[in-house]
Amino acid sequence: MTGPLLVTGGTGLLGSAVRKIRPDAIFLSRADGDLRDRSVAQHLLENIRPGQILHLAGLVGGVKANAANNSRFFEDNALINTAVLSAARSLGIQRLVSFLSSCAFPLFSDRATTEDDLQAALPYDGNAGYGYAKRMLDLHTRLVAKEEAWKWTTLTPVTLYGPQDSFDPESGHVVGSLISRCWAAKSSGNPFVVWGSGRAVRQFVFVDDVAKIAVDAVQRTLDSTTTIIAPDEGITIQTLAETIASVMGYSGPIVFDCSQPEGVLVKRLQSRSFSVRFPDCRFVSLRSGLEATVRWFIDHSSSGDKVSSGSLPLCHQS
Ligand SMILES: NC(=O)c1ccc[n+]([C@@H]2O[C@H](COP(=O)([O-])OP(=O)(O)OC[C@H]3O[C@@H](n4cnc5c(N)ncnc54)[C@H](OP(=O)(O)O)[C@@H]3O)[C@@H](O)[C@H]2O)c1
Repeated sequence: MTGPLLVTGGTGLLGSAVRKIRPDAIFLSRADGDLRDRSVAQHLLENIRPGQILHLAGLVGGVKANAANNSRFFEDNALINTAVLSAARSLGIQRLVSFLSSCAFPLFSDRATTEDDLQAALPYDGNAGYGYAKRMLDLHTRLVAKEEAWKWTTLTPVTLYGPQDSFDPESGHVVGSLISRCWAAKSSGNPFVVWGSGRAVRQFVFVDDVAKIAVDAVQRTLDSTTTIIAPDEGITIQTLAETIASVMGYSGPIVFDCSQPEGVLVKRLQSRSFSVRFPDCRFVSLRSGLEATVRWFIDHSSSGDKVSSGSLPLCHQS
């Protein structure tokens, strides 16, 4: 089918990375219309008549925001996904790639979670609203792909980080908030405070890598079952904080604040299909991805003490 590539959620972390690869695509944000409203979604898609859709729009938040607003995360995401997929179906758009999340999956203490586990047990309670909306998105995608014989699928990256991340120290994503906390510690001389015990294990993937995979996926014929994108087995939050401190040239104390939430202790996903579906993909190392992210953060810092990345003592791995 002819027509442009449409990216919903085009102003977000992932959408901004897609824009660097496909500047010719059409990128929607909330300013173009509220996609929770089916008539708005229908109207936008009828006007654009896309040939392919990367559906990235959603209400996305950190551990604290999810726990405090579980029902809102469910409602907004379920409404957005239903509106976009229904409009795309009514217009006969045969190529659509949406994004699930690790929060949709159950977790096991004795093994990694795979694609096969998606609907096998309950997701973690703290983000069940967001997780169930993503499970609905998975089902909706698979049902339409089967009934229409269309190339709709989903991708499930582990936690994204990179330029344009949310760097708010309170509500930002884990990498973004640690970078801004470390920066504040370095500037003020106060300790670098990390939420939780530091023992929680998490997986991270650089957003530019996921953007490349997404652009590739929307042009390919993939099975409608989701593909997990997890470059490695993960690291502890303590190791992440220490790596960020090293990249930012911070050598002061790192304090773990156990009064703050940290979610489940171990979250580990492993794909059964990624290397078969994307055999040529190579991921950047966490260190390189963090260096690029820190550089962007400093260049775009809105605080009064903005410093150019040229003066930051970025330390390189020996
Ligand atoms: N970030 C992660 O670690 C992660 C991990 C796994 C999966 N994912 C999934 O990947 C996708 C992209 O995530 P992201 O991190 O790029 O998200 P993000 O940075 O929070 O961006 C969300 C995007 O959705 C748009 N949006 C939100 N509510 C909307 C509404 N009611 N109507 C229209 N647009 C709306 C936002 O527009 P405005 O800019 O105008 O607000 C923004 O462009 C999401 O589906 C997310 O669930 C993310």
